[in-house]
Amino acid sequence: MKIGVLGAGNISRMVAPTLVAMPQIECYAVSSRDLSKAQAFADAFGFEKVYGSYEEMLRDPAVELVYVATPHSHHYEHMMQCIDYGKPILCEKAFTLNADQARKVKTAAAEKGVFVAEAIWPRYMPSRKIISDVMNSGVIGRPDTLTANLSYVISGVPRIVTPELAGGALLDIGVYGINFALMHFGTDIERVESSVRMTDTGVDGMESVTVFYRDGRMAVLTHSIYARSDRKGIIHGDKGYMVVENINNPQSLRVYDTDDNELAFYDFSDQISGYEFQFAECAEALAAGKTEAPSMPMDDTVFVMDFMDGLRRQWGLVYPQEQE
Ligand SMILES: NC(=O)c1ccc[n+]([C@@H]2O[C@H](COP(=O)([O-])OP(=O)(O)OC[C@H]3O[C@@H](n4cnc5c(N)ncnc54)[C@H](OP(=O)(O)O)[C@@H]3O)[C@@H](O)[C@H]2O)c1
Repeated sequence: MKIGVLGAGNISRMVAPTLVAMPQIECYAVSSRDLSKAQAFADAFGFEKVYGSYEEMLRDPAVELVYVATPHSHHYEHMMQCIDYGKPILCEKAFTLNADQARKVKTAAAEKGVFVAEAIWPRYMPSRKIISDVMNSGVIGRPDTLTANLSYVISGVPRIVTPELAGGALLDIGVYGINFALMHFGTDIERVESSVRMTDTGVDGMESVTVFYRDGRMAVLTHSIYARSDRKGIIHGDKGYMVVENINNPQSLRVYDTDDNELAFYDFSDQISGYEFQFAECAEALAAGKTEAPSMPMDDTVFVMDFMDGLRRQWGLVYPQEQE
Protein backbone atom coordinates (compact mmCIF):
# COMPACT_ATOMS: atom_id res chain seq x y z
CA MET A 1 0.00 0.00 0.00
CA LYS A 2 1.43 3.33 -1.09
CA ILE A 3 1.29 5.77 1.79
CA GLY A 4 1.25 9.57 1.58
CA VAL A 5 2.29 11.46 4.71
CA LEU A 6 0.48 14.79 5.17
CA GLY A 7 2.62 17.05 7.37
CA ALA A 8 6.30 16.35 7.98
CA GLY A 9 6.38 17.16 11.71
CA ASN A 10 7.14 15.43 14.99
CA ILE A 11 4.82 12.41 14.86
CA SER A 12 5.49 11.76 11.17
CA ARG A 13 9.18 11.50 12.00
CA MET A 14 8.43 9.20 14.92
CA VAL A 15 6.24 6.92 12.81
CA ALA A 16 8.35 6.85 9.63
CA PRO A 17 10.92 4.22 10.76
CA THR A 18 8.02 1.86 11.51
CA LEU A 19 6.54 2.43 8.05
CA VAL A 20 9.94 1.67 6.56
CA ALA A 21 10.03 -1.62 8.46
CA MET A 22 6.56 -2.78 7.33
CA PRO A 23 6.55 -5.08 4.28
CA GLN A 24 2.94 -4.20 3.38
CA ILE A 25 3.67 -0.43 3.31
CA GLU A 26 5.42 1.42 0.53
CA CYS A 27 6.89 4.72 1.75
CA TYR A 28 5.68 6.56 -1.29
CA ALA A 29 5.00 10.29 -0.78
CA VAL A 30 5.44 13.05 1.78
CA SER A 31 3.90 16.52 1.67
CA SER A 32 4.72 19.62 3.63
CA ARG A 33 3.85 23.30 3.38
CA ASP A 34 7.60 23.66 2.86
CA LEU A 35 9.11 21.66 0.00
CA SER A 36 12.60 21.57 1.53
CA LYS A 37 11.15 20.09 4.73
CA ALA A 38 9.40 17.40 2.70
CA GLN A 39 12.63 16.73 0.84
CA ALA A 40 14.59 16.37 4.09
CA PHE A 41 11.95 13.93 5.37
CA ALA A 42 12.04 11.93 2.12
CA ASP A 43 15.84 11.80 2.24
CA ALA A 44 15.83 10.66 5.85
CA PHE A 45 13.32 7.84 5.38
CA GLY A 46 13.53 6.96 1.68
CA PHE A 47 10.20 8.31 0.45
CA GLU A 48 9.91 8.42 -3.33
CA LYS A 49 7.75 11.50 -4.01
CA VAL A 50 7.98 14.93 -2.44
CA TYR A 51 5.31 17.63 -2.48
CA GLY A 52 5.46 21.26 -1.33
CA SER A 53 1.75 21.40 -0.60
CA TYR A 54 -0.73 18.91 0.81
CA GLU A 55 -3.10 19.37 -2.10
CA GLU A 56 -0.48 18.47 -4.69
CA MET A 57 0.04 15.14 -2.95
CA LEU A 58 -3.71 14.53 -2.83
CA ARG A 59 -3.83 14.97 -6.62
CA ASP A 60 -1.33 12.11 -7.06
CA PRO A 61 -3.48 9.13 -8.12
CA ALA A 62 -0.91 6.64 -6.82
CA VAL A 63 -1.38 7.59 -3.13
CA GLU A 64 -3.49 4.84 -1.53
CA LEU A 65 -3.66 5.98 2.11
CA VAL A 66 -3.07 9.48 3.51
CA TYR A 67 -1.66 9.67 7.01
CA VAL A 68 -2.90 13.02 8.39
CA ALA A 69 -0.29 14.13 10.94
CA THR A 70 -1.01 17.82 11.50
CA PRO A 71 -2.19 19.44 14.79
CA HIS A 72 -5.74 18.52 15.92
CA SER A 73 -6.89 22.03 15.00
CA HIS A 74 -6.29 21.22 11.33
CA HIS A 75 -7.48 17.60 11.08
CA TYR A 76 -10.99 18.56 9.97
CA GLU A 77 -9.78 20.78 7.12
CA HIS A 78 -7.16 18.27 5.98
CA MET A 79 -9.49 15.28 6.14
CA MET A 80 -12.16 17.16 4.17
CA GLN A 81 -9.52 17.85 1.50
CA CYS A 82 -8.64 14.15 1.41
CA ILE A 83 -12.32 13.25 1.03
CA ASP A 84 -12.69 15.76 -1.84
CA TYR A 85 -9.92 13.90 -3.62
CA GLY A 86 -11.36 10.49 -2.68
CA LYS A 87 -8.29 9.58 -0.63
CA PRO A 88 -8.47 7.00 2.19
CA ILE A 89 -7.46 8.51 5.55
CA LEU A 90 -5.72 7.49 8.73
CA CYS A 91 -5.84 10.63 10.91
CA GLU A 92 -3.90 11.22 14.11
CA LYS A 93 -5.69 11.62 17.43
CA ALA A 94 -7.46 13.65 18.64
CA PHE A 95 -9.57 13.04 15.55
CA THR A 96 -10.97 16.58 15.37
CA LEU A 97 -11.54 19.63 17.58
CA ASN A 98 -14.99 18.49 18.57
CA ALA A 99 -17.73 15.93 17.90
CA ASP A 100 -19.52 18.14 15.40
CA GLN A 101 -16.45 18.11 13.14
CA ALA A 102 -16.05 14.36 13.63
CA ARG A 103 -19.67 13.75 12.59
CA LYS A 104 -19.20 15.91 9.49
CA VAL A 105 -16.09 13.95 8.48
CA LYS A 106 -17.91 10.67 9.09
CA THR A 107 -20.87 11.77 6.95
CA ALA A 108 -18.76 13.23 4.13
CA ALA A 109 -16.57 10.12 3.96
CA ALA A 110 -19.61 7.81 4.00
CA GLU A 111 -21.29 9.80 1.22
CA LYS A 112 -18.22 9.43 -0.98
CA GLY A 113 -17.41 5.90 0.14
CA VAL A 114 -13.99 7.04 1.40
CA PHE A 115 -12.16 5.03 4.07
CA VAL A 116 -11.48 6.96 7.28
CA ALA A 117 -9.94 5.87 10.60
CA GLU A 118 -8.46 7.50 13.70
CA ALA A 119 -4.82 6.76 14.55
CA ILE A 120 -5.41 6.03 18.23
CA TRP A 121 -2.85 3.26 18.30
CA PRO A 122 -3.70 1.23 21.47
CA ARG A 123 -7.10 0.45 19.94
CA TYR A 124 -5.38 -1.53 17.16
CA MET A 125 -2.88 -3.43 19.31
CA PRO A 126 -3.15 -7.15 20.11
CA SER A 127 -2.77 -6.20 23.80
CA ARG A 128 -6.28 -4.69 23.76
CA LYS A 129 -8.01 -8.07 23.42
CA ILE A 130 -5.66 -9.79 25.87
CA ILE A 131 -6.36 -7.15 28.55
CA SER A 132 -10.12 -7.43 28.06
CA ASP A 133 -10.01 -11.24 27.97
CA VAL A 134 -8.01 -11.43 31.22
CA MET A 135 -10.36 -8.93 32.85
CA ASN A 136 -13.40 -10.95 31.74
CA SER A 137 -11.85 -14.32 32.69
CA GLY A 138 -12.77 -13.83 36.34
CA VAL A 139 -9.15 -14.03 37.57
CA ILE A 140 -9.49 -10.66 39.35
CA GLY A 141 -13.10 -11.36 40.26
CA ARG A 142 -15.65 -8.69 39.49
CA PRO A 143 -13.94 -5.64 37.95
CA ASP A 144 -14.90 -2.69 40.10
CA THR A 145 -12.63 0.31 39.53
CA LEU A 146 -10.23 1.32 36.81
CA THR A 147 -7.50 3.91 37.25
CA ALA A 148 -5.33 5.25 34.46
CA ASN A 149 -2.93 8.13 34.14
CA LEU A 150 -0.91 9.68 31.37
CA SER A 151 1.27 12.70 31.96
CA TYR A 152 4.28 14.02 30.12
CA VAL A 153 6.40 17.14 30.69
CA ILE A 154 5.20 18.90 27.56
CA SER A 155 4.05 22.29 28.85
CA GLY A 156 7.03 23.85 27.01
CA VAL A 157 5.85 22.56 23.62
CA PRO A 158 4.10 25.43 21.80
CA ARG A 159 1.46 23.19 20.17
CA ILE A 160 0.43 21.85 23.58
CA VAL A 161 -0.35 25.25 25.14
CA THR A 162 -1.66 27.16 22.12
CA PRO A 163 -5.47 27.46 22.05
CA GLU A 164 -5.52 28.03 18.25
CA LEU A 165 -3.85 24.61 17.81
CA ALA A 166 -6.39 23.06 20.23
CA GLY A 167 -3.66 22.57 22.81
CA GLY A 168 -4.16 21.18 26.30
CA ALA A 169 -3.83 17.84 28.03
CA LEU A 170 -7.25 16.53 27.02
CA LEU A 171 -6.96 16.26 23.24
CA ASP A 172 -3.29 15.33 23.32
CA ILE A 173 -2.94 12.79 26.15
CA GLY A 174 -6.31 12.66 27.91
CA VAL A 175 -7.66 10.91 24.85
CA TYR A 176 -5.56 7.85 25.80
CA GLY A 177 -6.94 7.58 29.33
CA ILE A 178 -10.46 7.97 28.01
CA ASN A 179 -9.89 5.33 25.33
CA PHE A 180 -8.43 2.97 27.95
CA ALA A 181 -11.56 3.29 30.09
CA LEU A 182 -13.96 2.99 27.15
CA MET A 183 -12.11 0.01 25.65
CA HIS A 184 -12.16 -2.02 28.86
CA PHE A 185 -15.18 -0.72 30.83
CA GLY A 186 -17.37 0.18 27.88
CA THR A 187 -19.70 3.08 27.22
CA ASP A 188 -22.73 2.45 29.46
CA ILE A 189 -22.00 5.60 31.42
CA GLU A 190 -24.29 7.22 33.99
CA ARG A 191 -22.34 10.44 34.47
CA VAL A 192 -18.87 11.99 34.33
CA GLU A 193 -17.37 14.31 36.95
CA SER A 194 -14.12 16.20 36.49
CA SER A 195 -11.75 18.82 37.86
CA VAL A 196 -9.33 20.91 35.86
CA ARG A 197 -6.46 23.33 36.28
CA MET A 198 -6.11 25.63 33.28
CA THR A 199 -2.86 27.01 31.85
CA ASP A 200 -2.14 30.75 31.66
CA THR A 201 -2.79 30.44 27.93
CA GLY A 202 -6.33 29.18 28.53
CA VAL A 203 -6.18 25.46 27.79
CA ASP A 204 -6.41 22.53 30.22
CA GLY A 205 -3.07 21.79 31.90
CA MET A 206 -4.10 19.00 34.25
CA GLU A 207 -7.32 17.23 35.04
CA SER A 208 -8.98 14.37 36.82
CA VAL A 209 -11.97 12.63 35.30
CA THR A 210 -14.29 10.23 37.13
CA VAL A 211 -16.57 8.07 35.03
CA PHE A 212 -19.55 6.54 36.85
CA TYR A 213 -20.92 3.47 35.08
CA ARG A 214 -24.57 2.49 35.38
CA ASP A 215 -23.69 -0.93 36.84
CA GLY A 216 -21.76 0.63 39.72
CA ARG A 217 -18.21 0.50 38.32
CA MET A 218 -16.03 3.60 38.28
CA ALA A 219 -13.03 4.78 36.24
CA VAL A 220 -10.70 7.51 37.49
CA LEU A 221 -8.35 9.14 34.99
CA THR A 222 -5.67 11.81 35.42
CA HIS A 223 -3.68 13.69 32.81
CA SER A 224 -1.12 16.49 33.09
CA ILE A 225 1.27 18.37 30.82
CA TYR A 226 3.60 19.25 33.75
CA ALA A 227 4.77 15.87 35.06
CA ARG A 228 5.86 12.41 33.98
CA SER A 229 3.45 9.89 35.44
CA ASP A 230 3.92 6.12 35.66
CA ARG A 231 1.39 5.74 32.79
CA LYS A 232 -0.19 2.69 34.43
CA GLY A 233 -3.70 1.51 33.80
CA ILE A 234 -4.96 -0.64 36.67
CA ILE A 235 -8.18 -2.62 36.82
CA HIS A 236 -9.21 -3.61 40.34
CA GLY A 237 -11.51 -6.50 41.23
CA ASP A 238 -12.65 -8.32 44.38
CA LYS A 239 -10.20 -11.22 43.78
CA GLY A 240 -7.20 -9.18 42.61
CA TYR A 241 -6.03 -6.53 40.24
CA MET A 242 -4.22 -6.20 36.92
CA VAL A 243 -1.62 -3.62 35.94
CA VAL A 244 -1.07 -2.46 32.35
CA GLU A 245 2.33 -0.87 31.87
CA ASN A 246 1.94 2.29 29.78
CA ILE A 247 -1.58 2.88 28.52
CA ASN A 248 -0.03 4.96 25.71
CA ASN A 249 1.69 1.89 24.25
CA PRO A 250 1.08 -1.15 26.51
CA GLN A 251 4.28 -3.10 27.16
CA SER A 252 3.03 -5.68 29.64
CA LEU A 253 0.20 -6.82 31.84
CA ARG A 254 0.70 -8.24 35.32
CA VAL A 255 -2.08 -9.90 37.26
CA TYR A 256 -2.08 -10.04 41.08
CA ASP A 257 -4.27 -11.61 43.74
CA THR A 258 -5.51 -9.71 46.80
CA ASP A 259 -2.27 -10.59 48.66
CA ASP A 260 -0.18 -8.97 45.88
CA ASN A 261 1.12 -12.34 44.61
CA GLU A 262 1.80 -12.14 40.88
CA LEU A 263 -0.45 -14.66 39.11
CA ALA A 264 0.37 -13.98 35.49
CA PHE A 265 2.58 -11.88 33.24
CA TYR A 266 1.91 -11.00 29.60
CA ASP A 267 4.68 -9.45 27.54
CA PHE A 268 3.54 -7.10 24.75
CA SER A 269 6.97 -5.84 23.75
CA ASP A 270 7.24 -7.99 20.62
CA GLN A 271 6.42 -5.19 18.17
CA ILE A 272 8.23 -2.76 15.87
CA SER A 273 7.12 0.32 17.81
CA GLY A 274 3.40 -0.23 18.29
CA TYR A 275 2.52 2.12 15.45
CA GLU A 276 2.45 -0.72 12.93
CA PHE A 277 -0.89 -2.21 13.98
CA GLN A 278 -3.02 0.76 12.90
CA PHE A 279 -1.34 0.92 9.47
CA ALA A 280 -1.58 -2.85 9.02
CA GLU A 281 -5.29 -2.77 9.83
CA CYS A 282 -5.89 0.08 7.37
CA ALA A 283 -4.09 -1.87 4.62
CA GLU A 284 -6.15 -4.96 5.38
CA ALA A 285 -9.45 -3.06 5.59
CA LEU A 286 -8.78 -1.23 2.33
CA ALA A 287 -7.86 -4.47 0.56
CA ALA A 288 -11.17 -5.92 1.79
CA GLY A 289 -13.09 -2.89 0.46
CA LYS A 290 -14.07 -1.61 3.91
CA THR A 291 -14.62 2.09 4.61
CA GLU A 292 -13.81 1.97 8.33
CA ALA A 293 -11.30 0.20 10.58
CA PRO A 294 -12.94 -2.60 12.60
CA SER A 295 -10.88 -1.72 15.72
CA MET A 296 -11.92 1.93 15.69
CA PRO A 297 -15.16 2.49 13.77
CA MET A 298 -16.27 6.07 13.26
CA ASP A 299 -19.08 5.71 15.83
CA ASP A 300 -16.45 4.97 18.50
CA THR A 301 -14.39 7.98 17.41
CA VAL A 302 -17.48 10.21 17.56
CA PHE A 303 -18.28 8.81 21.03
CA VAL A 304 -14.81 9.79 22.27
CA MET A 305 -15.17 13.28 20.77
CA ASP A 306 -18.60 13.68 22.42
CA PHE A 307 -17.07 12.56 25.73
CA MET A 308 -14.32 15.19 25.41
CA ASP A 309 -16.82 17.88 24.37
CA GLY A 310 -18.72 17.08 27.58
CA LEU A 311 -15.60 17.61 29.69
CA ARG A 312 -14.81 20.88 27.94
CA ARG A 313 -18.37 22.09 28.62
CA GLN A 314 -17.77 21.36 32.33
CA TRP A 315 -14.60 23.46 32.16
CA GLY A 316 -15.86 26.23 29.89
CA LEU A 317 -13.04 25.45 27.44
CA VAL A 318 -13.92 26.72 23.97
CA TYR A 319 -11.24 26.80 21.27
CA PRO A 320 -10.94 30.07 19.29
CA GLN A 321 -12.25 28.34 16.14
CA GLU A 322 -15.45 27.45 18.00
CA GLN A 323 -16.19 30.98 19.13
CA GLU A 324 -18.95 32.77 17.20
N1 LIG B 1 0.31 8.77 18.22
C1 LIG B 1 1.26 9.40 18.87
O1 LIG B 1 2.07 8.81 19.57
C2 LIG B 1 1.37 10.87 18.72
C3 LIG B 1 2.48 11.54 19.22
C4 LIG B 1 2.60 12.90 19.00
C5 LIG B 1 1.59 13.58 18.33
N2 LIG B 1 0.50 12.91 17.88
C6 LIG B 1 -0.58 13.60 17.15
O2 LIG B 1 -0.08 13.99 15.90
C7 LIG B 1 -0.59 15.27 15.54
C8 LIG B 1 0.59 16.18 15.22
O3 LIG B 1 1.41 16.31 16.36
P1 LIG B 1 2.95 16.71 16.21
O4 LIG B 1 3.53 16.62 17.56
O5 LIG B 1 3.55 15.93 15.10
O6 LIG B 1 2.79 18.23 15.81
P2 LIG B 1 3.79 19.23 15.10
O7 LIG B 1 5.10 18.59 14.86
O8 LIG B 1 3.74 20.50 15.87
O9 LIG B 1 3.01 19.52 13.73
C9 LIG B 1 2.88 18.54 12.74
C10 LIG B 1 2.91 19.18 11.38
O10 LIG B 1 1.65 19.75 11.09
C11 LIG B 1 1.83 20.61 9.98
N3 LIG B 1 0.99 21.81 10.10
C12 LIG B 1 0.02 22.16 9.24
N4 LIG B 1 -0.57 23.29 9.61
C13 LIG B 1 0.06 23.69 10.73
C14 LIG B 1 -0.08 24.83 11.56
N5 LIG B 1 -0.97 25.79 11.34
N6 LIG B 1 0.74 24.93 12.62
C15 LIG B 1 1.64 23.98 12.89
N7 LIG B 1 1.82 22.87 12.10
C16 LIG B 1 1.04 22.74 11.04
C17 LIG B 1 3.33 20.93 9.92
O11 LIG B 1 3.85 20.18 8.82
P3 LIG B 1 4.54 20.85 7.56
O12 LIG B 1 5.28 22.06 8.08
O13 LIG B 1 5.40 19.77 7.09
O14 LIG B 1 3.45 21.23 6.62
C18 LIG B 1 3.84 20.36 11.20
O15 LIG B 1 5.17 19.94 11.11
C19 LIG B 1 -1.44 15.74 16.71
O16 LIG B 1 -2.78 15.53 16.41
C20 LIG B 1 -0.99 14.87 17.87
O17 LIG B 1 -2.02 14.58 18.79
C21 LIG B 1 0.39 11.57 18.04
